Amino acid sequence: MIDHHLKLEIDYGTPASTSTETVTLEIDGQPVTVPKGTSLMRAAVDAGTRIPKLCATDSLEPFGSCRLCLVEIEGRRGFPASCTTPAEAGMKVHTQTPKLQELRKGVMELYISDHPLDCLTCAANGDCELQDMAGVTGLRNVRYGYDGANHLKDAKDESNPYFTYDPSKCIVCNRCVRACEETQGTFALTISGRGFESRVSAGQSEAFMDSECVSCGACVQACPTATLQEKSVIWLGQAEHSAITTCAYCGVGCGFKAEMKGNEVVRMTPWKDGKANEGHSCVKGRFAWGYATHKDRITKPMIRASIDDPWQEVSWEVAISHAASEFKRIQAKYGRDSVGGITSSRCTNEEAYLVQKLVRAAFGNNNVDTCARVCHSPTGYGLSQTFGTSAGTQTFKSIEHTDVIMVIGANPSDAHPVFASRMKKRIRAGAKVIVVDPRQTDLVSSAHVKADVHLPLRPGTNVAIINALAHVVMTEGLADEAFIAERCDPKSFGDWREFVSRPENSPEAFELATGVPAALVRDAARLYATGSKTGTKTGRQVNGAIYYGLGVTEHAQGSTMVMGIANLAMATGNVGREGVGVNPLRGQNNVQGSCDMGSFPHELPGYRHISDSTTRALFDDAWGVTLNPEPGLRIPNMFEAAQDGSFKGLYCQGEDIVQSDPNTQHVADSLRAMECIVVQDIFLNETAKYAHVFLPGSSFLEKDGTFTNAERRISRVTKVMPPLPGLGDWEVTVKLANALGYPMNYTHPEQIMEEIAALTPTFRGVSYAQIEKHGSLQWPCNENTEETGTAIMHAQKFVRGKGRFIITKYQPTDEKITPRFPLILTTGRILSQYNVGAQTRRTPNSLWHDEDRLEIHPHDAQERGIRTDDWVGIESRSGETVLRAVVSERMQPGVIYTTFHFPESGANVITTDSSDWATNCPEYKVTAAQVTKVAQPSEWQREYKEFNERQLDLLAKARGAEVVGK
Ligand code: SF4
Ligand code: SF4
Ligand code: SF4
Ligand code: FES
Repeated sequence: MIDHHLKLEIDYGTPASTSTETVTLEIDGQPVTVPKGTSLMRAAVDAGTRIPKLCATDSLEPFGSCRLCLVEIEGRRGFPASCTTPAEAGMKVHTQTPKLQELRKGVMELYISDHPLDCLTCAANGDCELQDMAGVTGLRNVRYGYDGANHLKDAKDESNPYFTYDPSKCIVCNRCVRACEETQGTFALTISGRGFESRVSAGQSEAFMDSECVSCGACVQACPTATLQEKSVIWLGQAEHSAITTCAYCGVGCGFKAEMKGNEVVRMTPWKDGKANEGHSCVKGRFAWGYATHKDRITKPMIRASIDDPWQEVSWEVAISHAASEFKRIQAKYGRDSVGGITSSRCTNEEAYLVQKLVRAAFGNNNVDTCARVCHSPTGYGLSQTFGTSAGTQTFKSIEHTDVIMVIGANPSDAHPVFASRMKKRIRAGAKVIVVDPRQTDLVSSAHVKADVHLPLRPGTNVAIINALAHVVMTEGLADEAFIAERCDPKSFGDWREFVSRPENSPEAFELATGVPAALVRDAARLYATGSKTGTKTGRQVNGAIYYGLGVTEHAQGSTMVMGIANLAMATGNVGREGVGVNPLRGQNNVQGSCDMGSFPHELPGYRHISDSTTRALFDDAWGVTLNPEPGLRIPNMFEAAQDGSFKGLYCQGEDIVQSDPNTQHVADSLRAMECIVVQDIFLNETAKYAHVFLPGSSFLEKDGTFTNAERRISRVTKVMPPLPGLGDWEVTVKLANALGYPMNYTHPEQIMEEIAALTPTFRGVSYAQIEKHGSLQWPCNENTEETGTAIMHAQKFVRGKGRFIITKYQPTDEKITPRFPLILTTGRILSQYNVGAQTRRTPNSLWHDEDRLEIHPHDAQERGIRTDDWVGIESRSGETVLRAVVSERMQPGVIYTTFHFPESGANVITTDSSDWATNCPEYKVTAAQVTKVAQPSEWQREYKEFNERQLDLLAKARGAEVVGK
């Protein structure tokens, strides 16, 4: 069966015009009205006609090279290309005439004469536009023969693990080159040679893997032939059905069409109507899904008495009743508060909701937390304090209206690639860019992108920078006084104005601390506030938008910095309309959702405080319990309580706290101190190695539900294959709650969403039917909003009423460099790997990055006699690990950098338990450290290797064993 998603997607040939004016014309006798600027090709589709085409596709600007789309226009000479000719009022266009038929056939004949005729065995058979056009134009034979000069023997490039390049099939339509430039923004491809010799080439005629290519796949998708072809399609053949779903990697939340053959994924195609990505993707979402069926998947529940025992595979019934009886035993012995749960930002909203419900209703306490604790909890706190709600203010598309983009502590090219492509497109169209980052990221300088101002601050001095920017705005008369007067709280503004205007907050006063020349800070402030480095106001409204990442939140003053950003946006009137706003780039696919769903110990779903008796009464009534009004334990508090002996049991769904939380040894010791750890995951992750019950999880392909991305956009996750362990994650939580004596009776996740909507005002208008109707919804979505929810937050007024300015005093972090630890370590991500790497390490993405490396500035390297590829020991007050070095100018002297995608790297052995004052978000971005050249792994690494091997051995023993209780 070929379903509608696969075949009925219309390619209009050229992008839609955004003009509000219309023109009416006639195409093949049919009157049609289209926006001004629409191509004849696109207008023809509206009139019900498809004009043959090869070089045009509606995701790219028209190029006009193939000459297949010719039309006749009454009163005009010649045969213009319909893709490059705009529709004009009164035109009479003919798309099918004998002359056009003859011309098109001639064009096709030339193409086919230099094309292999292996259609029957070609991977694109049935999905090839060249083949389609041969049929459409009625080409029946090729007069030129195939024995003249041709490219049929050109060698294939199979270097990329996910797609091949077969130059013999290339028709030089340039779609791939344009996709790489316009859609992706990497500029990796060119057409080399001229005329007959011309061919596509990556970089300087390099193999794809050796070129600048980042394997986003946009060129593969754009290619009308099998020249660029997914290897999965070559191996498996064309898909037979598909379903719309959402990427399970980052917070961009790209929509995908999962193209399937039976229960097997053939390819993931970015969904054209997906509002977060509009048909684009990165290497992870498009290609790195093989982990879902990797041999390491654990599909049978397992239990063991101690972490030194072998695992024993058991039935679901045995595993669940064992976990439940252990939690009950622990609570009976140590008290109600001795157990807790961690929800997953990788799982669906429905699943996160159920876990927090289980903790509050079945455990009877509020000991629930989520991985946002270690990433964006300061965003929640900071934006709630200033604006009144805990989420980004804009859609991604809003950036198309931005004049000045300020990126703080974020590297979207690696961490949010599809949004980075959108950002770069806007930059190429003329937006100005300010980058606040210790490193020379891609946005500072890369193909066709150059930051107007880069503030290379010392890690840990964000608040000094934001105060200095605000100082310039307020002391140079660059504030938007009208906005402030109308929209903000006057008292808090007055206090804040006085505070930031003090000389101690000037760029000059902070120069020493931040390491950034004051003049640069002044340039940045003026540019953000007025669109010009001179600070001259033109009277035209300038849209400044701030995008920020974990380089803002993961600091001792993370919450302060978020509030500082909000202050600056309010002071310049950059909130509440298209093109402006404050936008956290959320890390995990559903970190926004897991927070929305009440995963924090002090908040019920919809960010309502647990101490609020009215909200509690609502949930008491619906859940049939009496909720505890006291906030529960945060993750770091759970660890402390475990070491004190008062916290003994943990239900951890889809999060690897051992690898992702700071100070690994402290985390491991805390887990060892507990009596029952239940881990629900798809792999035996690092945390599971300390567990007593393992409940096999299901991947995003195996369950229904929703994810919420960084735009507050709620999108469907669709089950395209049965869960490998037999149960979806939500079903497991339901069974566990029932075994604990708290009844849950859902039979489909849709019912869970109905309950969420009924109990959460900001979700009142959310349902699967509405998501199906509109593709996605953005909360707040209820009777007071559009049917699709809210695209721009705080449009008329702030959620809290008046915007509140908060004084943000810069407090140097306690994590200071010393003679013993003279360098500052900061951490981040790389494009090909994702977070703890559990998924991407089990895909060919590791070909790009198969180990975490330490980046170090040439000056620091030279002082220590370190060269690229040398093994170096990195030591902090927490611990020591060993990595290979990369000497890089991207770093500033005194600052070193690494990623944390591989457990054996132990990046978090070095990070400390220093954390944000308001939320306990760890200060990953600042660790005082020393680096020395070494010859062997650290002691921790040797211990880890031994422990890991032992745990894998205990797993292997179980896998050879028979399942108990089947
Ligand atoms: S895969 Fe992406 S980055 Fe690589 S050449 Fe194609 S479009 Fe460019
Ligand atoms: S590789 Fe494909 S998209 Fe690129 S020029 Fe050749 S046929 Fe066109
Ligand atoms: S940008 Fe993020 S959501 Fe989109 S495909 Fe890549 S990893 Fe998935
Ligand atoms: S589709 Fe118009 S010239 Fe190729």
